[in-house]
Amino acid sequence: MRHLSVPSAQTQTWLDKCRTQHWLSSQAGVSRLEGGLNAIPLTDLAPLEGDAVWANNPHIDLPIQVKWPTHWLQHMDQALVEKYDEDWPRSYEIQGDVLIVKLEESIFEYGESIANAMLAQLPNIRLICADLGVKGEFRIRDLQPLASRNKDLETRTRIKENGYLLWVDASKVYFSARLSNERIETRDTAKKLRAMLARPLVVCDPYAGVGPSMGALLNEPELIGGFLVGDLNPDAFELLCLNIEHLRHRRKGLEGNSLTALDPTELHCRDALDWAQDKSMHNRADLLLVNLPHHSIQHIEALLPLLKRNQTCVIRGWAIVEHSELEMKEQEIRATVSKSKGSVEQFSFREVKGFSSHQSFMCFELWIRLRD
Ligand SMILES: C[S@@+](CC[C@H](N)C(=O)[O-])C[C@H]1O[C@@H](n2cnc3c(N)ncnc32)[C@H](O)[C@@H]1O
Repeated sequence: MRHLSVPSAQTQTWLDKCRTQHWLSSQAGVSRLEGGLNAIPLTDLAPLEGDAVWANNPHIDLPIQVKWPTHWLQHMDQALVEKYDEDWPRSYEIQGDVLIVKLEESIFEYGESIANAMLAQLPNIRLICADLGVKGEFRIRDLQPLASRNKDLETRTRIKENGYLLWVDASKVYFSARLSNERIETRDTAKKLRAMLARPLVVCDPYAGVGPSMGALLNEPELIGGFLVGDLNPDAFELLCLNIEHLRHRRKGLEGNSLTALDPTELHCRDALDWAQDKSMHNRADLLLVNLPHHSIQHIEALLPLLKRNQTCVIRGWAIVEHSELEMKEQEIRATVSKSKGSVEQFSFREVKGFSSHQSFMCFELWIRLRD
């Protein structure tokens, strides 16, 4: 195929010129040549070599470089693509080498073809699963494997977030990569509390899932002095233990300082509401995370005894709240703290994202002091 050879710095100018004149062929892409040159594929409408329009840039003959599709839909039957134009998934979620996609009912029967097209387009993906909604006590996603690159249908996989690794398994444990910014904010709040208390913190995360918040906290040198973490879901607990083990062993100290030992280092597979029934769990944490968005606010009261007395402590929690009840929920949280002989030093209630037309996913952060 005839190509125009141009210095690479001029490629965009010549591409624009050829495109507007209908001289640019869509059958091939731009090819890189030796000596800082690029080759632009030409249509039959383009003037012959030597025409003044080419400004002495030569023409060369190159085999057609087939353009690689830029979207998975381009690997599918194009008649089918047009037929269901509006129904194809516009987005998907990736956890490690597993891709999770919601399919409209109208195209569900093409699930395997969709999955194969996605595997063809995305070389780092091993397994494609359809998301059938949430199920069970722990609101875990019901996943149906559609196609695998190597017959392996295992949904357990490892992800990297903010510089730390985590084992996740979307078919057994809740995890949302979209909330990774919340973890960064938790770390930033913890750093402020650490500066105020002038010592590493004991963190309590009783709804830890696979432990992403602990990833953000333990990754920060000398921020955490100990932890009490857990999850009621035994599958989540198994991954949490694996992740904490890994995070603990790759902990770094501040430059020049040796690592201080963590104490406490407790992991509990237990209902968070029961933790404080055990007196030995009282008065232990500086920072409490409450992440059970449908129930967080109701659970605060049962968790307060876990916090240290007569000093500033922080609670960070996440809750799904009706727009019309925002004010009421703030008052409810404040009242819970006063009832436990506490005072609120700072309170913030911030929308993280919309949840439905009448609800928001909120983050509340409380700096409090509980008295004996
Ligand atoms: C929304 S997820 C949050 C997980 C994790 N903190 C994160 O950010 O990925 C809530 C977690 O709480 C656990 N859970 C539900 N009820 C619980 C309870 N009563 N006590 C302890 N954990 C519970 C679930 O298994 C789930 O892993």
